[in-house]
Amino acid sequence: MVTVDEVRKAQRAEGTATIMAIGTTNPANVYDQSSYPDTYFRMTNTEHMTEVKHKMQRMCDKTMIKKRHTYTTEEVMKENPNIKSYKAPSLDTRQDMAATLIPKLGKEAATKAIEEWGQPKSKITHLICCSTMGPFMPGYDYQIVQLLGLDLSINRVMLYQQGCNGGGTILRIAKDLAENNKGARVLIVCTEITLVGFHCPTETDVDVLVSHSLFADGSAALIVGADPVLGVEKPIFELVSTAPTLVPNSPGAICGSIREHGLTIHIGKEVPDLISNHIEKRLIEVFHPLGITDWNSIFWAAHPGGPAILDQVEAKLGLKPEKLRATRHVLAEYGNMSSVTVLFVLDEVRKKSTEDGLKTTGDGLEWGVLFGFGPGLTIETLVLHSVNVV
Ligand code: COA
Repeated sequence: MVTVDEVRKAQRAEGTATIMAIGTTNPANVYDQSSYPDTYFRMTNTEHMTEVKHKMQRMCDKTMIKKRHTYTTEEVMKENPNIKSYKAPSLDTRQDMAATLIPKLGKEAATKAIEEWGQPKSKITHLICCSTMGPFMPGYDYQIVQLLGLDLSINRVMLYQQGCNGGGTILRIAKDLAENNKGARVLIVCTEITLVGFHCPTETDVDVLVSHSLFADGSAALIVGADPVLGVEKPIFELVSTAPTLVPNSPGAICGSIREHGLTIHIGKEVPDLISNHIEKRLIEVFHPLGITDWNSIFWAAHPGGPAILDQVEAKLGLKPEKLRATRHVLAEYGNMSSVTVLFVLDEVRKKSTEDGLKTTGDGLEWGVLFGFGPGLTIETLVLHSVNVV
């Protein structure tokens, strides 16, 4: 009979993928959430649509977001009127701008991660990039190689169109690469900009109001590798196990499509119910081998999605408010940056743990969970192990 302690030890044997650095960044332009409906209706010349504007104000007030960074400014709208015209063909303009802005922002985050890691770039063996925006050929991974001066023969993987689960997906792939290629050092970069999916409001398209109340721009980069070199590389979190799944019968809950007028996104009202009804099953499955059944005994890094998801998850699982503190903090300060958001949450968890003088990077606790929620509906689940704060 294998004991829980033996399972725990085996899951964290030598060679477990470990996060060793996190860099985050946002565009300089920032909008205050409470006045965003004024800004948005002004920049799209739709101020006469007062009922729609009031509805968006009600949504924005409920998001619990304080501010959001974005490249989508009034100046950009003035210079590119086809972006703000209802269903005007504008994909070329959007793609051209995204092809420059996404690698630029990604480079900023990657530079910060490499600085924290403190090792020469030549030691990076793999690069995985992720963005819901695009796609381009070559992908923005190609630009990142050039902009950072990485080895031209680096092993590259490009993930487009992942949506909000992308932060979990990219970590899952990084873990596989790090654990199956001895000495691998994987640079992962997630970058999202809302410009490709920016639309003017209409009387009928409520999806536009939801996405424009929640989404924002940002980028996060991490270094992942197994067996950190002691005294040289500093572990932050171990990636112990991964478990992606699709929620059954949920194909249209969150979905998107690239049209002539840009990316359109639908977020169904059923999403908070779907997630909160399925999340405990995921927790039981991944934590059963570790003998953990108390969801308040672990630390949490969840993709925020929107406050309705967090409120329902908290209520269903009986979570103490502090469990989703980092998630709510990132949502409030930056909005929903799709795939990037959960990586900001990881950064917030480890920084606050150090700031508060806690004994581990995971809110002082040993085990933790990371959740990514996205199109499908897709749920990415990762079991994390913290490290001692020295
Ligand atoms: N689609 C369309 N309309 C929506 C909606 C959705 N998914 N969710 C909420 N609304 C509308 C409501 O009908 C309501 O309209 P009304 O004021 O005209 O009646 C308005 O938004 C405010 O809704 P309300 O129920 O008062 O507030 P709320 O507490 O639900 O907050 C959100 C609104 C959008 C912040 C909240 O529903 C939320 O967090 N949703 C989850 C978002 C999500 O699924 N994100 C996943 C992306 S990964």
